[in-house]
Amino acid sequence: MSKAWAPVAGEPLVGRLVVIGLGLIGGSFAKGLRELKLCREVVGFDLDARSRELAVELGVVDSCAETLEQACAGADVIQLAVPILAMEKLLAQLAALDLGDAVLTDVGSAKGNVVRCAREVFGSMPGRFVPGHPIAGSEQSGVTAAQGSLFRRHKVILTPLADTDPTALALVHRLWSALGADVEHMGVRHHDEVLAATSHLPHLLAFGLVDSLAKRHENLEIFRYAAGGFRDFTRIAGSDPVMWHDIFLANREAVLHTLDDFRSDLDALRAAVDEGDGHKLLGVFTRARAAREHFSKILARRAYVDVMHSNDLIFLANPGGSLAGRLRVPGDKSISHRSIMLGSLAEGTTEVEGFLEGEDALATIQAFRDMGVVIEGPQQGRVTVHGVGLHGLKAPPGPIYLGNSGTSMRLLAGLLAAQPFDTTLTGDASLSKRPMNRVAKPLREMGAVIETEADGRPPLTIRGGQRLSGMHYEMPMASAQVKSCLLLAGLYAADQTSVTEPAPTRDHTERMLRGFGYPVDVQGSTARVESGHKLRATRIEVPADISSAAFFMVAASIAPGSEVLLEHVGINPTRTGVIDILKLMGADITLENQREVGGEPVADIRVRAAELNGIDIPEELVPLAIDEFPVLFVAAACAQGRTTLRGAEELRVKESDRIQVMADGLQTLGVQAQPTPDGIVIEGGPMGGGEVWAHGDHRIAMSFSVAALRASAPIRIHDCANVATSFPNFLVLAERAGMRVHAEGGS
Ligand code: S3P
Repeated sequence: MSKAWAPVAGEPLVGRLVVIGLGLIGGSFAKGLRELKLCREVVGFDLDARSRELAVELGVVDSCAETLEQACAGADVIQLAVPILAMEKLLAQLAALDLGDAVLTDVGSAKGNVVRCAREVFGSMPGRFVPGHPIAGSEQSGVTAAQGSLFRRHKVILTPLADTDPTALALVHRLWSALGADVEHMGVRHHDEVLAATSHLPHLLAFGLVDSLAKRHENLEIFRYAAGGFRDFTRIAGSDPVMWHDIFLANREAVLHTLDDFRSDLDALRAAVDEGDGHKLLGVFTRARAAREHFSKILARRAYVDVMHSNDLIFLANPGGSLAGRLRVPGDKSISHRSIMLGSLAEGTTEVEGFLEGEDALATIQAFRDMGVVIEGPQQGRVTVHGVGLHGLKAPPGPIYLGNSGTSMRLLAGLLAAQPFDTTLTGDASLSKRPMNRVAKPLREMGAVIETEADGRPPLTIRGGQRLSGMHYEMPMASAQVKSCLLLAGLYAADQTSVTEPAPTRDHTERMLRGFGYPVDVQGSTARVESGHKLRATRIEVPADISSAAFFMVAASIAPGSEVLLEHVGINPTRTGVIDILKLMGADITLENQREVGGEPVADIRVRAAELNGIDIPEELVPLAIDEFPVLFVAAACAQGRTTLRGAEELRVKESDRIQVMADGLQTLGVQAQPTPDGIVIEGGPMGGGEVWAHGDHRIAMSFSVAALRASAPIRIHDCANVATSFPNFLVLAERAGMRVHAEGGS
């Protein structure tokens, strides 16, 4: 009986590793670990004598055993890498041997079957058996194709059971990690369903389609006309038939389940073609295209590119530089969200131009696609929304995922509260921490039924089929999201719904509702709607986002010698607090070519470098500059004297606690920045470099990029991936304008 092999510092991780089945996967596992010298010895076993010889010759293993019993004697880890249908027989043979404390693991691509076989032959699932599945392969097969790097940056899924020994699990996890794999843990059933959907079904379809065409055209003549599309779709029909036959038999239930779902969707597509239902076809194709683009992004960014391998995207901002030129920043986020929401609820087709192709606004598009709205684009900022009318939304197939977007969640809550179906709204880690009671509470007063997690955090579950009644609501905080949420609910509520705000907030919802022909009454600080009207489709031109332009306003102000012209920026008076505050600090900002576009005022904004002075920021400007404070804090750090902000406690519940996170970062750079409960006090002065954290908050990441213009050393900014939520081409524009910031690992 072998004694459990305990690793000692400086010694290999495993004593005797045994790999049974020396094909591509088993061979690569053995070879990789042998090359890394992580095992004292690597022993192979294969029924095929030639494979055993080759494995030794090619350095895949140290030696091969002649029998299974000899191989397993004294083993510390046994990797089962035989074809999935051979697994049952192998397990039965292993159950008859004394395996001591050896850890067992396998590479089978269906896990339920392996676990079932193990239970049958061992009587129960051995605690030291860790089921696994590397998602890797190659067109070649056999031991000659084995390569130690096969699993690098590929996923390996381990499917431990409740009573799997944690030390065995940790060891198997470490071995795969050492090979460069991205190891995840998952339940057995979930694994089999995921693989049935993403791997097994596509193979079945590819094999099935090629066979179906080939047998009807026996001389295979039609394939002469097959172009790239056919080649791409059917590439996997060239895979190993025996292996795939095994997989379908092993993962029978999960495959049948996903195949049945697909068949009913295919029938619906057939019916659409039969009935000439172009709308239905366009819906399926636009949704599929969006999903495919999302998937390509994940593949390109998350799984295969080194910089993104860890989830931390780091911006490296080098000190100095000045800005010059004309810049057009992306479309306004608030207006982009609303164009999709109102366009979807309108009757007719709404054309949008200048749409922000950032992750937040794309999340809103996806939400409405999930609810059956056909939306074409975005393509170069153009989106076509085929409105379904106020009562045309359909129940989504599952929870609606809104990523980082608080605006999507709060506004959607209002209009979903009145739909006939239930919905669940979820988001990423940051959104899941944000307060939703500010909308849930007044909506409940209108008759909505909404469930939240503790303290009103997402996910939100909104029960359909409620009759809402209109009401008057005095908002306790100045929030355009809360106001908009209630006005949207008011489109469905009996009688009138009115909202009074304690201070002016952005009024894009009111303006756009009117643009869609829906009457909105605004008297002083109260906006009122009544139900019973309709939205009529329209054209929307989204101006550039002043919140994105703000980074360049501050950048050009603080970097000596700078002059930029920011084109076509929205200057809605409920958004221009940043310009007022910067001007009070002494900034040189002029508005040129002022005009109105689709109900929103727009201008080109010229900014020249200027000496800034610290100020007491007037409280009434706070809601009008609410998203621009992170970068305004950078301006304050570069100003002469002290800047004080009060009355801005809302900043603590944005994508991050923007007061604390900015204070921490500025202090790291040597700036005196003192947070207060509702604001901050910043003393202007020299700024050094250092490591700062954006905490996944897009605006913090961009603000510290701007700070580098006046820093004396580089600033490394962690956790910047969410810049893509509002400003996907920030780095390109910033570098073009003269800033010295780039993604670390990039150019
Ligand atoms: C927004 C309103 C603001 C703002 C957010 C967008 C909107 O939030 O911070 O980025 O589009 O209505 P609050 O309403 O919470 O202040």
